[in-house]
Amino acid sequence: MKTMIYKGYELSDKTIQKHIHEVFHKGGLVVFPTETVYGIGADATNPEAVKSIYKAKGRPSDNPLIVHLSKVEDLELYVSDIPSHAKSLMDSFWPGPLTLVFNKKEIIPKEVTGGLNTVGIRIPGLKIARDIIDIAGLPICAPSANLSGKPSSTIFDHVASDFEERVDIIIDGGKAEIGLESTVLDITTPVPVMLRPGFVTKKMIEDALGFKIIDATESKIENTPKSPGMKYTHYAPKGKMTLVEGNEKDVVDFINNEIKKHKKTKVAVIGAEEYLNQIDAEYKANLGHLSDLNEIGSNIFIALRQMDQLGIEHIYMHTLSNTDLGQAIMNRLSKAAGYNLIKL
Ligand code: TXA
Ligand code: MG
Repeated sequence: MKTMIYKGYELSDKTIQKHIHEVFHKGGLVVFPTETVYGIGADATNPEAVKSIYKAKGRPSDNPLIVHLSKVEDLELYVSDIPSHAKSLMDSFWPGPLTLVFNKKEIIPKEVTGGLNTVGIRIPGLKIARDIIDIAGLPICAPSANLSGKPSSTIFDHVASDFEERVDIIIDGGKAEIGLESTVLDITTPVPVMLRPGFVTKKMIEDALGFKIIDATESKIENTPKSPGMKYTHYAPKGKMTLVEGNEKDVVDFINNEIKKHKKTKVAVIGAEEYLNQIDAEYKANLGHLSDLNEIGSNIFIALRQMDQLGIEHIYMHTLSNTDLGQAIMNRLSKAAGYNLIKL
Protein backbone atom coordinates (compact mmCIF):
# COMPACT_ATOMS: atom_id res chain seq x y z
CA MET A 1 0.00 0.00 0.00
CA LYS A 2 1.26 3.45 -0.90
CA THR A 3 1.36 5.77 2.12
CA MET A 4 0.93 9.51 1.59
CA ILE A 5 2.86 11.69 4.01
CA TYR A 6 1.64 15.19 4.87
CA LYS A 7 3.03 17.81 7.23
CA GLY A 8 0.81 19.16 9.99
CA TYR A 9 0.99 22.66 8.54
CA GLU A 10 -0.33 21.44 5.17
CA LEU A 11 -3.77 20.66 6.60
CA SER A 12 -5.22 23.93 5.29
CA ASP A 13 -4.71 22.61 1.73
CA LYS A 14 -8.14 21.70 0.31
CA THR A 15 -6.83 18.77 -1.78
CA ILE A 16 -5.16 17.25 1.26
CA GLN A 17 -8.31 17.80 3.33
CA LYS A 18 -10.37 16.02 0.68
CA HIS A 19 -7.96 13.08 0.66
CA ILE A 20 -8.01 12.71 4.47
CA HIS A 21 -11.83 12.96 4.51
CA GLU A 22 -12.16 10.28 1.82
CA VAL A 23 -9.71 7.88 3.46
CA PHE A 24 -11.59 7.97 6.77
CA HIS A 25 -14.99 7.59 5.07
CA LYS A 26 -13.76 4.60 3.04
CA GLY A 27 -12.59 2.83 6.22
CA GLY A 28 -8.89 3.63 5.73
CA LEU A 29 -6.19 4.38 8.30
CA VAL A 30 -4.53 7.69 9.14
CA VAL A 31 -1.59 7.97 11.54
CA PHE A 32 -1.68 11.38 13.22
CA PRO A 33 0.15 13.27 15.96
CA THR A 34 -1.30 14.23 19.34
CA GLU A 35 0.31 15.98 22.31
CA THR A 36 0.78 12.60 24.05
CA VAL A 37 1.88 10.06 21.41
CA TYR A 38 1.02 9.43 17.75
CA GLY A 39 -2.25 7.57 17.14
CA ILE A 40 -3.34 5.22 14.34
CA GLY A 41 -6.87 6.36 13.59
CA ALA A 42 -10.00 5.05 11.88
CA ASP A 43 -13.74 5.83 11.74
CA ALA A 44 -14.95 4.69 15.18
CA THR A 45 -18.41 3.89 13.78
CA ASN A 46 -17.09 1.45 11.15
CA PRO A 47 -16.30 -2.04 12.61
CA GLU A 48 -14.26 -3.13 9.56
CA ALA A 49 -12.10 -0.01 9.74
CA VAL A 50 -11.55 -0.61 13.46
CA LYS A 51 -10.46 -4.20 12.79
CA SER A 52 -7.93 -3.05 10.22
CA ILE A 53 -6.15 -0.98 12.89
CA TYR A 54 -5.20 -4.22 14.62
CA LYS A 55 -4.07 -5.81 11.38
CA ALA A 56 -1.74 -2.86 10.79
CA LYS A 57 -0.42 -3.03 14.37
CA GLY A 58 0.10 -6.78 14.11
CA ARG A 59 -1.85 -7.88 17.16
CA PRO A 60 -5.25 -9.36 18.05
CA SER A 61 -8.07 -6.96 18.90
CA ASP A 62 -8.35 -7.39 22.65
CA ASN A 63 -7.86 -3.90 24.07
CA PRO A 64 -10.57 -1.22 24.15
CA LEU A 65 -9.72 1.82 22.03
CA ILE A 66 -9.99 5.51 22.88
CA VAL A 67 -12.41 7.56 20.77
CA HIS A 68 -11.10 11.01 19.90
CA LEU A 69 -13.45 13.98 19.42
CA SER A 70 -12.71 17.57 18.42
CA LYS A 71 -15.27 19.27 20.68
CA VAL A 72 -17.19 18.69 23.92
CA GLU A 73 -20.57 19.33 22.22
CA ASP A 74 -20.21 16.02 20.35
CA LEU A 75 -19.83 13.97 23.53
CA GLU A 76 -23.55 13.30 24.00
CA LEU A 77 -23.74 11.68 20.55
CA TYR A 78 -21.59 8.80 21.78
CA VAL A 79 -22.10 8.42 25.55
CA SER A 80 -25.34 7.60 27.33
CA ASP A 81 -24.84 9.50 30.55
CA ILE A 82 -22.52 12.23 31.69
CA PRO A 83 -21.98 12.10 35.49
CA SER A 84 -22.22 15.46 37.26
CA HIS A 85 -18.55 15.49 38.29
CA ALA A 86 -17.47 14.92 34.67
CA LYS A 87 -18.05 18.60 33.97
CA SER A 88 -15.31 19.90 36.26
CA LEU A 89 -12.88 17.37 34.76
CA MET A 90 -13.75 18.36 31.19
CA ASP A 91 -13.54 22.06 32.06
CA SER A 92 -10.14 21.58 33.68
CA PHE A 93 -8.46 19.14 31.29
CA TRP A 94 -10.12 19.12 27.86
CA PRO A 95 -8.74 19.54 25.28
CA GLY A 96 -5.81 17.63 26.74
CA PRO A 97 -4.18 14.38 27.87
CA LEU A 98 -7.08 12.96 29.92
CA THR A 99 -9.25 10.06 28.71
CA LEU A 100 -12.60 9.69 30.48
CA VAL A 101 -14.47 6.37 30.45
CA PHE A 102 -18.28 6.75 30.06
CA ASN A 103 -21.19 4.38 29.39
CA LYS A 104 -21.43 4.17 25.59
CA LYS A 105 -24.26 4.60 23.15
CA GLU A 106 -25.18 1.99 20.51
CA ILE A 107 -23.42 3.93 17.72
CA ILE A 108 -20.01 2.92 19.12
CA PRO A 109 -19.53 -0.71 18.01
CA LYS A 110 -18.15 -3.46 20.26
CA GLU A 111 -15.06 -3.66 18.04
CA VAL A 112 -14.00 -0.29 19.53
CA THR A 113 -14.60 -1.18 23.17
CA GLY A 114 -13.39 -4.76 23.23
CA GLY A 115 -16.96 -5.84 24.01
CA LEU A 116 -17.37 -3.45 26.98
CA ASN A 117 -20.44 -1.23 27.45
CA THR A 118 -18.15 1.67 28.25
CA VAL A 119 -16.03 3.86 25.98
CA GLY A 120 -12.93 5.96 26.63
CA ILE A 121 -13.18 9.47 25.16
CA ARG A 122 -10.54 12.14 24.76
CA ILE A 123 -10.31 15.53 23.06
CA PRO A 124 -6.63 15.92 22.10
CA GLY A 125 -4.79 19.07 23.11
CA LEU A 126 -2.84 19.30 19.84
CA LYS A 127 -4.69 21.45 17.32
CA ILE A 128 -3.46 19.36 14.36
CA ALA A 129 -5.23 16.35 15.90
CA ARG A 130 -8.51 18.25 16.39
CA ASP A 131 -8.27 19.60 12.83
CA ILE A 132 -7.94 16.05 11.48
CA ILE A 133 -11.03 14.94 13.45
CA ASP A 134 -12.94 17.96 12.04
CA ILE A 135 -11.78 17.18 8.49
CA ALA A 136 -12.99 13.59 8.95
CA GLY A 137 -16.29 14.74 10.45
CA LEU A 138 -16.30 11.47 12.41
CA PRO A 139 -15.35 10.19 15.87
CA ILE A 140 -11.86 8.75 15.44
CA CYS A 141 -10.75 5.73 17.44
CA ALA A 142 -7.01 5.47 17.76
CA PRO A 143 -4.62 3.39 19.79
CA SER A 144 -0.99 4.44 20.08
CA ALA A 145 0.76 4.16 16.70
CA ASN A 146 3.30 1.42 17.31
CA LEU A 147 3.73 -2.11 16.04
CA SER A 148 2.81 -4.74 18.59
CA GLY A 149 5.48 -4.99 21.30
CA LYS A 150 7.20 -1.69 20.50
CA PRO A 151 7.03 1.46 22.62
CA SER A 152 4.53 4.14 21.57
CA SER A 153 5.77 6.50 18.87
CA THR A 154 6.55 10.08 19.80
CA ILE A 155 8.44 11.21 16.69
CA PHE A 156 7.74 10.99 12.96
CA ASP A 157 10.68 8.65 12.21
CA HIS A 158 9.22 6.01 14.52
CA VAL A 159 5.73 6.06 13.02
CA ALA A 160 7.21 6.08 9.54
CA SER A 161 9.40 3.04 10.25
CA ASP A 162 6.44 1.17 11.80
CA PHE A 163 3.66 2.17 9.38
CA GLU A 164 4.94 3.28 6.00
CA GLU A 165 3.28 0.98 3.40
CA ARG A 166 0.78 -0.20 6.10
CA VAL A 167 -1.58 2.81 6.30
CA ASP A 168 -3.08 5.27 3.81
CA ILE A 169 -1.80 8.50 5.35
CA ILE A 170 0.78 9.60 7.92
CA ILE A 171 0.66 13.16 9.23
CA ASP A 172 4.01 14.48 10.44
CA GLY A 173 3.50 16.73 13.47
CA GLY A 174 7.06 16.63 14.79
CA LYS A 175 7.90 15.48 18.30
CA ALA A 176 5.02 14.87 20.75
CA GLU A 177 5.26 17.46 23.48
CA ILE A 178 4.26 15.17 26.37
CA GLY A 179 5.53 11.85 25.01
CA LEU A 180 3.52 9.64 27.41
CA GLU A 181 0.00 8.30 26.73
CA SER A 182 -3.01 10.04 28.30
CA THR A 183 -4.23 9.48 31.85
CA VAL A 184 -7.24 7.10 31.79
CA LEU A 185 -9.99 7.74 34.37
CA ASP A 186 -13.13 5.64 34.71
CA ILE A 187 -16.01 7.90 35.78
CA THR A 188 -18.80 5.33 35.48
CA THR A 189 -18.50 4.51 39.20
CA PRO A 190 -19.53 6.89 42.06
CA VAL A 191 -15.84 7.35 42.95
CA PRO A 192 -13.70 7.69 39.77
CA VAL A 193 -10.93 5.13 39.25
CA MET A 194 -7.58 6.00 37.66
CA LEU A 195 -6.68 3.16 35.28
CA ARG A 196 -3.52 4.57 33.70
CA PRO A 197 -1.30 7.39 35.05
CA GLY A 198 -0.30 10.16 32.68
CA PHE A 199 0.49 13.85 32.42
CA VAL A 200 -2.75 14.72 34.25
CA THR A 201 -1.81 13.46 37.71
CA LYS A 202 -3.95 11.99 40.49
CA LYS A 203 -3.48 15.18 42.49
CA MET A 204 -4.57 17.39 39.59
CA ILE A 205 -7.74 15.27 39.19
CA GLU A 206 -8.50 15.36 42.92
CA ASP A 207 -7.95 19.13 43.03
CA ALA A 208 -10.41 19.59 40.15
CA LEU A 209 -13.00 17.27 41.70
CA GLY A 210 -12.59 18.37 45.31
CA PHE A 211 -12.51 14.75 46.53
CA LYS A 212 -10.23 11.68 46.49
CA ILE A 213 -10.25 9.11 43.68
CA ILE A 214 -9.24 5.43 43.56
CA ASP A 215 -5.84 4.63 42.06
CA ALA A 216 -5.88 1.28 40.23
CA THR A 217 -2.68 1.82 38.25
CA GLU A 218 0.33 -0.45 38.15
CA SER A 219 2.87 2.21 38.95
CA LYS A 220 3.65 1.20 42.51
CA ILE A 221 6.54 -1.08 41.80
CA GLU A 222 6.40 -2.56 45.35
CA ASN A 223 2.93 -3.95 44.71
CA THR A 224 3.60 -5.54 41.37
CA PRO A 225 3.44 -9.24 40.59
CA LYS A 226 6.64 -11.22 41.03
CA SER A 227 6.40 -13.10 37.76
CA PRO A 228 5.21 -10.59 35.22
CA GLY A 229 2.85 -12.00 32.61
CA MET A 230 2.60 -11.21 28.94
CA LYS A 231 0.53 -8.19 29.83
CA TYR A 232 3.67 -6.41 31.02
CA THR A 233 5.90 -6.97 28.02
CA HIS A 234 4.27 -4.12 26.10
CA TYR A 235 7.14 -1.63 26.22
CA ALA A 236 9.94 -4.11 26.68
CA PRO A 237 13.15 -3.57 24.74
CA LYS A 238 14.98 -6.73 23.59
CA GLY A 239 17.85 -6.22 26.05
CA LYS A 240 17.51 -6.96 29.76
CA MET A 241 16.48 -3.77 31.51
CA THR A 242 17.19 -3.14 35.20
CA LEU A 243 15.93 -0.25 37.31
CA VAL A 244 18.15 0.75 40.20
CA GLU A 245 16.77 2.53 43.26
CA GLY A 246 18.82 4.21 45.97
CA ASN A 247 20.70 7.41 46.72
CA GLU A 248 22.47 8.97 43.75
CA LYS A 249 26.01 7.95 44.67
CA ASP A 250 25.10 4.31 45.40
CA VAL A 251 23.15 4.04 42.14
CA VAL A 252 26.02 5.51 40.10
CA ASP A 253 28.56 3.17 41.77
CA PHE A 254 26.33 0.15 41.25
CA ILE A 255 25.76 0.88 37.56
CA ASN A 256 29.45 1.62 36.89
CA ASN A 257 30.28 -1.69 38.52
CA GLU A 258 27.71 -3.57 36.43
CA ILE A 259 29.16 -2.03 33.27
CA LYS A 260 32.58 -3.45 34.19
CA LYS A 261 31.04 -6.86 34.84
CA HIS A 262 29.35 -6.91 31.44
CA LYS A 263 32.36 -5.69 29.42
CA LYS A 264 31.85 -8.29 26.70
CA THR A 265 28.25 -7.30 26.00
CA LYS A 266 26.60 -4.13 24.73
CA VAL A 267 25.53 -2.15 27.80
CA ALA A 268 23.60 1.11 27.80
CA VAL A 269 22.46 3.47 30.51
CA ILE A 270 19.32 5.55 30.19
CA GLY A 271 19.00 8.44 32.58
CA ALA A 272 18.99 12.06 33.58
CA GLU A 273 22.03 14.10 32.59
CA GLU A 274 23.11 14.51 36.23
CA TYR A 275 23.49 10.72 36.56
CA LEU A 276 24.94 10.10 33.10
CA ASN A 277 27.74 12.62 33.73
CA GLN A 278 29.05 10.25 36.41
CA ILE A 279 28.64 7.05 34.41
CA ASP A 280 31.25 5.45 32.23
CA ALA A 281 29.21 3.62 29.57
CA GLU A 282 29.73 3.34 25.83
CA TYR A 283 26.05 3.96 25.15
CA LYS A 284 24.09 6.57 27.05
CA ALA A 285 20.59 7.90 26.38
CA ASN A 286 20.19 11.32 27.96
CA LEU A 287 16.60 12.05 28.99
CA GLY A 288 17.22 15.61 30.17
CA HIS A 289 17.57 17.29 33.53
CA LEU A 290 16.31 15.80 36.79
CA SER A 291 14.56 19.07 37.60
CA ASP A 292 12.47 18.87 34.40
CA LEU A 293 10.24 15.80 34.57
CA ASN A 294 8.31 16.97 31.48
CA GLU A 295 11.50 16.78 29.44
CA ILE A 296 12.39 13.37 30.90
CA GLY A 297 8.89 12.02 30.21
CA SER A 298 8.93 13.22 26.61
CA ASN A 299 12.18 11.34 25.89
CA ILE A 300 11.47 7.94 27.49
CA PHE A 301 10.00 6.18 24.45
CA ILE A 302 12.67 7.59 22.14
CA ALA A 303 15.37 6.19 24.44
CA LEU A 304 13.68 2.77 24.67
CA ARG A 305 13.47 2.49 20.88
CA GLN A 306 17.15 3.47 20.59
CA MET A 307 18.09 0.45 22.71
CA ASP A 308 16.82 -1.98 20.07
CA GLN A 309 18.19 0.09 17.18
CA LEU A 310 21.64 -0.19 18.79
CA GLY A 311 21.25 -3.87 19.68
CA ILE A 312 21.81 -3.24 23.40
CA GLU A 313 21.90 -6.36 25.61
CA HIS A 314 21.87 -4.81 29.10
CA ILE A 315 20.10 -1.57 30.00
CA TYR A 316 20.31 0.24 33.33
CA MET A 317 18.39 3.21 34.62
CA HIS A 318 17.97 4.95 37.98
CA THR A 319 14.44 5.30 39.36
CA LEU A 320 12.60 8.60 39.76
CA SER A 321 10.29 9.70 42.52
CA ASN A 322 6.93 7.96 42.09
CA THR A 323 4.86 11.11 42.66
CA ASP A 324 3.05 13.48 40.28
CA LEU A 325 4.36 13.09 36.71
CA GLY A 326 6.98 10.70 38.12
CA GLN A 327 4.15 8.18 38.64
CA ALA A 328 3.41 8.03 34.89
CA ILE A 329 7.10 7.86 34.00
CA MET A 330 7.82 5.10 36.54
CA ASN A 331 4.74 3.21 35.30
CA ARG A 332 6.14 3.06 31.74
CA LEU A 333 9.70 2.31 32.93
CA SER A 334 8.53 -0.47 35.26
CA LYS A 335 6.73 -2.14 32.36
CA ALA A 336 9.76 -1.72 30.09
CA ALA A 337 11.92 -3.40 32.73
CA GLY A 338 9.39 -6.19 33.33
CA TYR A 339 9.34 -4.96 36.97
CA ASN A 340 13.03 -5.83 37.34
CA LEU A 341 14.07 -3.50 40.17
CA ILE A 342 17.17 -3.54 42.36
CA LYS A 343 16.89 -1.66 45.66
CA LEU A 344 20.22 -0.64 47.11
O1 TXA B 1 -2.59 9.34 24.71
C1 TXA B 1 -3.31 8.41 24.36
O2 TXA B 1 -4.23 7.96 25.07
C2 TXA B 1 -3.03 7.77 22.98
C3 TXA B 1 -3.34 8.82 21.92
C4 TXA B 1 -3.24 8.28 20.54
O3 TXA B 1 -4.61 9.38 22.18
N1 TXA B 1 -3.77 6.56 22.79
C5 TXA B 1 -3.48 5.40 23.46
O4 TXA B 1 -4.29 4.33 23.10
O5 TXA B 1 -2.60 5.31 24.27
P1 TXA B 1 -3.99 2.83 23.55
O6 TXA B 1 -4.95 1.99 22.80
O7 TXA B 1 -2.56 2.50 23.37
O8 TXA B 1 -4.39 2.79 25.07
C6 TXA B 1 -5.74 2.91 25.45
C7 TXA B 1 -5.89 2.70 26.94
C8 TXA B 1 -5.72 1.24 27.30
O9 TXA B 1 -4.98 1.15 28.52
C9 TXA B 1 -7.16 0.80 27.48
O10 TXA B 1 -7.27 -0.30 28.33
C10 TXA B 1 -7.83 2.05 28.03
O11 TXA B 1 -7.18 3.10 27.36
N2 TXA B 1 -9.26 2.09 27.71
C11 TXA B 1 -9.85 2.46 26.56
N3 TXA B 1 -11.18 2.32 26.61
C12 TXA B 1 -11.46 1.85 27.84
C13 TXA B 1 -12.65 1.45 28.52
N4 TXA B 1 -13.84 1.52 27.93
N5 TXA B 1 -12.54 0.99 29.78
C14 TXA B 1 -11.34 0.90 30.37
N6 TXA B 1 -10.17 1.25 29.80
C15 TXA B 1 -10.22 1.70 28.55
MG1 MG C 1 -0.62 1.58 23.36
